[in-house]
Amino acid sequence: MVVAVPAGRGRLMKCLSLAIPPPTTTTHPSLLHDIASNHHKRIAKVVLKKGKTQLFKDGSPMVYSGAVDRIIGRPPPKTGDIVLVADGTEKPIGWGMYNSISMFCVRLMQLEQEVARDPSCALDVEKLLETRIHEATQMRRSLGLPSSITSAYRLVNSEGDGLSGLIVDIFGEVAVIASSAAWVEKYKPQIKTCIGRLDGINYISWRPSVEILKKEGMDLSDSKEIYPETPPERVKVMENGIFYLISLEGQKTGFYTDQRENRHFISTISDGQRVLDMYCYSGGFALNAAHGDARNVTGVDSSLPALELARENIVLNNLDPEKISFLRHDAAAFMKDAVSRNETWDIVIIDPPKLAPRRKVLQSASGMYRNLNSLAMRLTKRGGLLMTCSCSGAMTQSGTFLQILQAAASDVGRKVTVMRQAGAACDHPIDPSYPEGAYLSNVLLRVL
Ligand SMILES: C[S@@+](CC[C@H](N)C(=O)[O-])C[C@H]1O[C@@H](n2cnc3c(N)ncnc32)[C@H](O)[C@@H]1O
Repeated sequence: MVVAVPAGRGRLMKCLSLAIPPPTTTTHPSLLHDIASNHHKRIAKVVLKKGKTQLFKDGSPMVYSGAVDRIIGRPPPKTGDIVLVADGTEKPIGWGMYNSISMFCVRLMQLEQEVARDPSCALDVEKLLETRIHEATQMRRSLGLPSSITSAYRLVNSEGDGLSGLIVDIFGEVAVIASSAAWVEKYKPQIKTCIGRLDGINYISWRPSVEILKKEGMDLSDSKEIYPETPPERVKVMENGIFYLISLEGQKTGFYTDQRENRHFISTISDGQRVLDMYCYSGGFALNAAHGDARNVTGVDSSLPALELARENIVLNNLDPEKISFLRHDAAAFMKDAVSRNETWDIVIIDPPKLAPRRKVLQSASGMYRNLNSLAMRLTKRGGLLMTCSCSGAMTQSGTFLQILQAAASDVGRKVTVMRQAGAACDHPIDPSYPEGAYLSNVLLRVL
């Protein structure tokens, strides 16, 4: 079930201009209602429109303004306040964090059923953070993370770990916290304290997603903070037995932990192969191919800082520089040149940046994916393998990626077969009630 989130100014204005009637005296048979009544502060109630409740009762955490009928409470809630979310009869279905600016009025933190199972975290953000982060840590341990061969992984994956807007990646002794919600910024000290208490964490780097936070009503353009001490500029980690240098100034949190399992897969099929890693960043797929005894490996990226890391990673892993090289090029230009030289590889990987950042641009992005994949197929020798990726949520959720790959194959007169389909690694859990959390598609094609 995909939530249609009506966007646009009109809807936002409607949310902001909601009438705020005086407090109600109605009582409801609800544990949350009782806990809220005993709370030292008045807690506002966001009442949903009739017929708009089930989605959120089923667990979708993002209450969009179009689903809200009215807000009860004086003074009206402010961004970052705890609110109750109630059905049309004003019976609470859960509680969450309010935002007066965002098109998402509330990020639900707990549903009534969860509160009934364990009321200890109800309406208590600090306690909830502790509990959720503990659960997330246990979940990763059950997946064998960290381990003697992997020290880089995702500890908290936003909605998938019940903490919408909070991402935590662990790189050895450094935790990188990516914040994309106003409530996360408001509870920054509490979050830092919780993460700082985890075994083995000596440094925290806080990375606000400035553009997303603007839509949450927060301007943090100049903000970047570190805690408790300045972490080293670069961190050395291991993933599946391969060493990487991570720059904490690098893209996203500094490292793409989501491709860990897919990178490892490449190491298992590379023996004796000639491998091309397009959009290689710090060399993840290329290093795995070399580690898996590829005959020759080429990585291509347009970012100089990323390539510097990739080149240092060759040395760090004692790989033969005659067999692996990283080149700075625009990917499309490199592929066109290689096509004109009739050059081919046994295995080609393409992992471009997010080409469809919003659903609105999906159509034009589809054209770009089609063209890039046509080029990549032409660079794959007949009978060779193409691992092709899309990290655009809009593309993955549209379910059209395979169609685009088929169209790309038709364009260049090639026949493709799907050998493997994957998403992000298992430390990136997804809540099925929030399918928008699934963004990564990774498809392995045999190209004839
Ligand atoms: C999703 S990341 C790739 C992650 C990488 N595969 C890994 O495993 O770490 C996308 C990469 O594309 C690079 N990039 C963006 N635009 C590019 C372009 N026009 N040509 C080449 N590389 C580009 C970025 O610098 C970034 O490293």
